[in-house]
Amino acid sequence: MPTLKFAVLAGDYIGPEVMAEALRVLGHVARQEGFALDYTEAAVGGAAIDRHGAALPESTLQTCAAADAILFGSVGGPKWEKLPPNQQPERAALLPLRKHFTLFANIRPGLLYRELADASPLKSERIPDGIDIVCIRELTGGLYFGQPKATTTLPDGDIQAVDTMVYRRSEIERITATAITAARARRKRLCSVDKANVLETSVLWRKTVTEYVAKHAPDVTLSHMYVDNAAMQLARDPNQFDVFVTENMFGDILSDEMAVICGSLGMLSSASLGAKQNSLGLPFGLYEPAGGTAPDIAGKSIANPCAQILSAALMLRYSFGLEKPAARIEAAVRAAVTSGTRTGDIAFGRPSVGTQAMADAVIARL
Ligand code: IPM
Ligand code: MG
Repeated sequence: MPTLKFAVLAGDYIGPEVMAEALRVLGHVARQEGFALDYTEAAVGGAAIDRHGAALPESTLQTCAAADAILFGSVGGPKWEKLPPNQQPERAALLPLRKHFTLFANIRPGLLYRELADASPLKSERIPDGIDIVCIRELTGGLYFGQPKATTTLPDGDIQAVDTMVYRRSEIERITATAITAARARRKRLCSVDKANVLETSVLWRKTVTEYVAKHAPDVTLSHMYVDNAAMQLARDPNQFDVFVTENMFGDILSDEMAVICGSLGMLSSASLGAKQNSLGLPFGLYEPAGGTAPDIAGKSIANPCAQILSAALMLRYSFGLEKPAARIEAAVRAAVTSGTRTGDIAFGRPSVGTQAMADAVIARL
């Protein structure tokens, strides 16, 4: 019986609540499909600051390094907001984790079921069939990590802060390769988003993506779009995109826009895949819901667990090569939601259920 070895980093606020349900769904599928779960829980984020004095303790890194994948909840919140910026959970846990494991490829599906079209702030007639697009965000380069990155007091007493946007050709090529794989699994249309009318990094980005696709993926139709236009086009007609690929900060911003037009953050999963292979020869990855810790609803058992459950499905697909169980979970979530079982974030005046009942409805359809 295959054994899935992964690290569970639930984090803060609703993180542990939705993680418990994702683990329950995974356990159910594992019994049905004949595989075993061997997971180790480790502290991360604010919870780790409280317990170990650091947002990403060495012991947690070791647990992750010994695993084939990381199932991640979410970190941060008001309790730790007074800490210096570089010690806050998001910056001191999530970013170093991404960097440590070179998780350069962030895959964010933007999926809105047709039956949930009224969850979107877009007019339903613009999205009669819902939304189905994918954002591929570069995750370990650009402004987030470039050096120098510092705040200094100048000789004249003024204060100056600097972040550096830097990309190497090799970094652009490897994220392009990920985007090509994603596009080939879909409609083979790839849009590269940049700001090549202003930024040097974007000029290199556009040239590199163009050459790489021409050489390695002539079957993929490539287009380019400036990021400001892309923000507008996403709101106007999201389904004109199939897969779009972009640098770190543009992807951070556009993926939030994508999330809101897809109705609820509570439904969106993500996968961050690395350069490193796991012990199965598949990509080591970190899987996390797109939404945050939602402190306002934490502790009430009303958070939507679907994004965490769908992130677990992505883990099965990418890091364990288990396509069938992954697809079964995705279908079960869809069936549960479209048949009317909804948490408050997607209920729209209809009766809503709590976190556990939502997961029960998914399990019932497996
Ligand atoms: C995301 C988040 C993170 C990011 C924050 C929490 C550091 O917004 O995953 O999109 O900016 O990458
Ligand atoms: Mg973000």
